[in-house]
Amino acid sequence: MKKFTVLTLFPEMFAGFVTTSIIKKALERKLIAIEIVDIRDYSVGKHHQVDDYQYGGGQGMVLMLEPLVKAIRAHQTSNSLVVLLTPQGQTYQQKMAVNLANDKADLILICGHYEGFDERILHYVDLELSLGDYVLTGGELASMVVIDSIARLATDVINPESHQNDSFSEELLDYPVYTKPVTFEGHEVPAVLLSGHHQNIAQWREFKAFEKTFYKRPDLLKDKKLSELQQKWLAELEQKEN
Ligand SMILES: C[S@@+](CC[C@H](N)C(=O)[O-])C[C@H]1O[C@@H](n2cnc3c(N)ncnc32)[C@H](O)[C@@H]1O
Repeated sequence: MKKFTVLTLFPEMFAGFVTTSIIKKALERKLIAIEIVDIRDYSVGKHHQVDDYQYGGGQGMVLMLEPLVKAIRAHQTSNSLVVLLTPQGQTYQQKMAVNLANDKADLILICGHYEGFDERILHYVDLELSLGDYVLTGGELASMVVIDSIARLATDVINPESHQNDSFSEELLDYPVYTKPVTFEGHEVPAVLLSGHHQNIAQWREFKAFEKTFYKRPDLLKDKKLSELQQKWLAELEQKEN
């Protein structure tokens, strides 16, 4: 069972996350474990500090090293991977979620706040992850994104077929999906999906996933090894565009 330990100044932010939907069920079924740790429990000095002003002057409080290192050490095992959530880390992607889900390591996720961490925290972490090129107020949402994306890949959390075709799993976006009604304000569900012909449906989905990626995320196709059929589709789509 994969365990996630989150070090945060705001444990209350996780209340809804651990008590809702698929994550709640995965916890109840003991398919994953999540421990939320308040960094303030590891505060230092008689004023129970966890942050302080930065050396050299400047706006914003900085998370102190000692409480973080104490919190890490209190929860670290030989099986832990210590992850720092930071906009300066490598950009988190589905491939990384798959690797971390397949890896046996438990994750310790460190959430920053305010101006960030004392830079020397880098001596104590294994991996720096960023959600993307924007700045959040804290690492809490980022840690929930990482846990959520890994947890849904864990064995038995959801039906494996549900994530086999997920966007990015084969450098392709997922195919389009539809539900009732068949017609809404003149917008129809593609007839092939109502045909009951499984092979035609599978082929249509394969093409649509490719077509969607071609139009929305052509960058994904650049590094992809294309099958003969996909090369033919690519040539046809490019011709259509010219
Ligand atoms: C206001 S940010 C600090 C940003 C820092 N001054 C910088 O520019 O690199 C506070 C905390 O939010 C989290 N955070 C902000 N943006 C993030 C992102 N894109 N990905 C992951 N964590 C992020 C980090 O834990 C960070 O320490």
